[in-house]
Amino acid sequence: MVNKIQRSAPGKVILCGEHSVVYGQPAIAVPVSGLRAYANVEAAPTEGSLQLISRDLNETISLEVAPPEHPLAAIARETLAYLTLPSPAASLTLWSELPIASGLGSGAAVSVAIARALAAYLGRELQPQEVSALAYEVEKIHHGTPSGIDNTVIAYEAPVYFVKGQPPEIFVIKEPFYLVIANSGIPSATKQAVMGVRNRRNAKPEEYDTYFNRMGEIANAARTAIEQGDIASLAPLLNENHSLLREIGVSLPELDRLVAVAKNAGATGAKLTGAGTGGNVIALTSPENIASVKAAMQAAGATEVWTT
Ligand code: PMV
Repeated sequence: MVNKIQRSAPGKVILCGEHSVVYGQPAIAVPVSGLRAYANVEAAPTEGSLQLISRDLNETISLEVAPPEHPLAAIARETLAYLTLPSPAASLTLWSELPIASGLGSGAAVSVAIARALAAYLGRELQPQEVSALAYEVEKIHHGTPSGIDNTVIAYEAPVYFVKGQPPEIFVIKEPFYLVIANSGIPSATKQAVMGVRNRRNAKPEEYDTYFNRMGEIANAARTAIEQGDIASLAPLLNENHSLLREIGVSLPELDRLVAVAKNAGATGAKLTGAGTGGNVIALTSPENIASVKAAMQAAGATEVWTT
C-alpha cells in the first residue's frame, strides 16, 4: 500500500441523444478533459474507518457513519465491496472543477475519481469498464433509471456512442472541433427532467416516439459526421436536436436565449446539453469565433463559460 495517491476524472457533454437514450435510441457524448474531479487518498493515523473529506463543501464524514445515499460514501462502499477489502485507515479528499447539477457529469466524475483513487491506494488499478459499473450503481441512487451514458464516457474518457444495455462503442474524432460550453446558472435536476418526459410521453406515446426516433437518427448522423471530419454537417444536427428537446419540454427560455445568442455571435450549431430544465448549453464554434461567442453568452447571463 502506498502512502498517498491521486486520481481524477473528466466532465462530459452529451453532443446529442439525451432523453431519447433513455428510450433505447443512441446518444453521443464526449469527455471534457479540461474540467475534472480529483480524489486524493492518504494514510491517516486515525483509528479505523476511511474519512471522507469534501473540500468544496467543507465537510468531513467517516465512512462508518455516513448514510447510504451519501454520494462519497456510496461510491467508496461500492468500491470496497467490489474489491472485497475492508475500509482502510486513510483519508480521502475530493474536490471538483465541475459545476454540480448542470449536465456536465459532476456526479459521475466524482464517483470515478473516488473509485480509482481508493482502488489504487489499495493496490488495484481499475479498468474503465470496472469503474464505470461502480459509478453506475451510484448514478442509480441519485437518478432513478439513468441510461449509464455519464459513467461510461467519463470512465473511458473518450467519445462514446452509447445505446442503453449494449457495450459502449468508443470512436475516433477525425478533425478536432470546438465547443463553447455555457452554464445558465439554473440547476438542472436530472431525475425530475427524466420523470417529466416520461409523464408527457405516457400522455402522447406516438408523438414522443416520433421525436425520439428522429433524435436517434440525428445521433447516428452526428457520429458519421464526426468520424468523417465533416464538422459542417454536425451543426444543423445540433440545431435540430435542440428544437426536438424543446418539443419534449426540457428547454427553458433562458436556454433558448443562450442558444440564439451563440448562433448570432457566430456559432454554427447550438443546443442544451444533458437533462435540461437548466444546466448548460453547447455551441459548435470555429476557433476564430470562440471569443465572440463566449463574450455574447456571458453578456446574455451565462454564469460560467468554457471551451473544449
Ligand atoms: O444532465 P445529465 O448529465 O445528468 O444527463 C442526463 C441525460 C439523460 O439522457 C437526460 C438521462 C440519462 O440517464 O441518460
